[in-house]
Amino acid sequence: MPDTITNKLGTEIMVGGIRFKSNVLMAPLAGYTCFPFRLMAERLGAGSAYTEMVSSDGLKYNDRATSKLLYTDDREKLKCVQLLGSIPAVFERAAKSERLEKFDVIDVNMGCPVPNVIKAGEGSALLEDLPRASKIIEACKRSGKVVSVKCRIGLNRQKIVIEEFARMCEQSGADMITVHGRTRDMMYDGEPLYEFIKKAKESVKIPVFANGGIDSKAKALEMMEKTGADGVMLARYGFENPLIFAELTGTQCNDTKYSLLMEQLEIAEECYDELYVLSYVKKLASYFMKKLPGTKQYKLALYRCGSIPELRTILGEIFTAPGE
Ligand SMILES: Cc1cc2nc3c(=O)[nH]c(=O)nc-3n(C[C@H](O)[C@H](O)[C@H](O)COP(=O)(O)O)c2cc1C
Repeated sequence: MPDTITNKLGTEIMVGGIRFKSNVLMAPLAGYTCFPFRLMAERLGAGSAYTEMVSSDGLKYNDRATSKLLYTDDREKLKCVQLLGSIPAVFERAAKSERLEKFDVIDVNMGCPVPNVIKAGEGSALLEDLPRASKIIEACKRSGKVVSVKCRIGLNRQKIVIEEFARMCEQSGADMITVHGRTRDMMYDGEPLYEFIKKAKESVKIPVFANGGIDSKAKALEMMEKTGADGVMLARYGFENPLIFAELTGTQCNDTKYSLLMEQLEIAEECYDELYVLSYVKKLASYFMKKLPGTKQYKLALYRCGSIPELRTILGEIFTAPGE
């Protein structure tokens, strides 16, 4: 295996027979990666963008909350859903269900570090239960869809499992793996441990994507170079600055933060109720201002705003002000 960069950032890649238009992906982010956001990420060059994690068991209920998470339509070219759970038969039922009929790719969450999730044997608990994880992948594969796995490198520095885990994923039929280069006990902080993503890449033939801490083109290139991964997956920074997808993939666009917000508002209004629209667009606008100095009063105005027309006015004031 060459230990220098093997793949260029922004190139297309085949995953289990499906063409991803670039090897720069948008991660699942609970509370954030709704349909309008995924559509925007895709337009700006992301090779795929995932729904936030959806309970595999919850699919059997026809509740409004799950329907919102699963909303998609033909504007989204590649449809990717992430499932959370612990029971292979439940995954199989979900993967074959009518509710997931439109989705091309099923990603299995094997990385979530939240205590309640682990207690239920879900998310990163599966890093400790390879036979079960394997059965889950096989169960999803029986749907005939492309199946990916998103995992961490291990539980802590003493329990790094990624090489064996990656091989298990491949042998069970997974078409791709995304490795978050942090251990479970690191949660979401600290420098990713690049060498273990590299080991995962060297252990399997299926595409391996690298995730964790990418917040600039330089970081994305560093990740590719240090891990030899087939591509990268952005999470928090992808939400903070979706224009990074255009930068990393060479996608032409004339968007500004303001135009993106107006587009998002319009699409969200078509798909969701006012409460949800307000909550989503406020979150996005706050993230867009995250690293800007002197935005406290704008954030307060956003927080207080109670209607869509008012939100439109406030966003205009904030994002078309001189200096924006
Ligand atoms: C608020 C939040 C929600 C997340 N939701 C999910 C999720 O639903 N599914 C998942 O696999 N990972 C989830 N993650 C993890 C991210 O996808 C990603 O692996 C992690 O944030 C590391 O990438 P980053 O350093 O680029 O943000 C979440 C992370 C955060 C901070």
